[in-house]
Amino acid sequence: MTVVPSAEAGATIIPEHVAIIMDGNGRWAAKRSLTRLRGHGQGAEAVREALKGCDELGIRYLTLFAFSSENWSRPVEEINHLMGLFRFFFRKEIKALCDAGIRVKFIGNTSKLPSDIQDLIEELKVRTKDNNKLVLTLALSYGSQAEIVGAMQALGEKIKAGDLSPEEIDENMVSRNLQTADLPEPDLLIRTSGEKRLSNFLLWQCAYTEFVFLDVLWPDFKKQDLLAAVEEYGSRNRRYGAL
Ligand code: FPP
Repeated sequence: MTVVPSAEAGATIIPEHVAIIMDGNGRWAAKRSLTRLRGHGQGAEAVREALKGCDELGIRYLTLFAFSSENWSRPVEEINHLMGLFRFFFRKEIKALCDAGIRVKFIGNTSKLPSDIQDLIEELKVRTKDNNKLVLTLALSYGSQAEIVGAMQALGEKIKAGDLSPEEIDENMVSRNLQTADLPEPDLLIRTSGEKRLSNFLLWQCAYTEFVFLDVLWPDFKKQDLLAAVEEYGSRNRRYGAL
């Protein structure tokens, strides 16, 4: 966590890692009598806005919940449209992400994604691996409970092989076996659209995270909304269970 004086943010405390549940694309579209698909399209624009905001505020890690493991149960037309958006965004933005010094990572069961998107994911990971201004982690086909189960299975295998005893398992070891092992825990979690749930996102990692719920629908999200959430975060007193 850093205190960065910036023109817009004053002397606001800047969180190192911000995670966002981008919610409200469908409601944004319904309010305008548009299809849900248009809402997702506009939601992709808001991702650019969030990236700009992180750049201006000096946020080092941004993690976005782009597609949950539960989203596979949506109508096939909507799933295909979202996959098309990811495909388009990854192809179109790869150069801009590199130029902006953004490293792109992925969490989730990406093996369920169409194979050409898996190829784009590999390309993005490789081409951005030396960038260090911002780490953008996209949660795709992600579910936190499944991620925790995966970590438990990995530890269980080590016990079975005789390389680990159950008593040696501690919180750090569990963290190191999650897909987020190389990320700091989120300081601030933002959910848009007024819903107040975690929806199976970063359950373990958010043990001490500050939550800010914004009434704005994700497609309307602007960098000023990020600044407002960061200011709210800065006003909180984080005690981590101590006095
Ligand atoms: C939640 O809104 C949003 C999603 C399930 C998809 C998020 C995807 C994007 C913002 C598109 C682009 C992303 C990238 C990384 C290019 P909802 O559909 O659940 O909205 P509702 O609750 O109003 O129905």
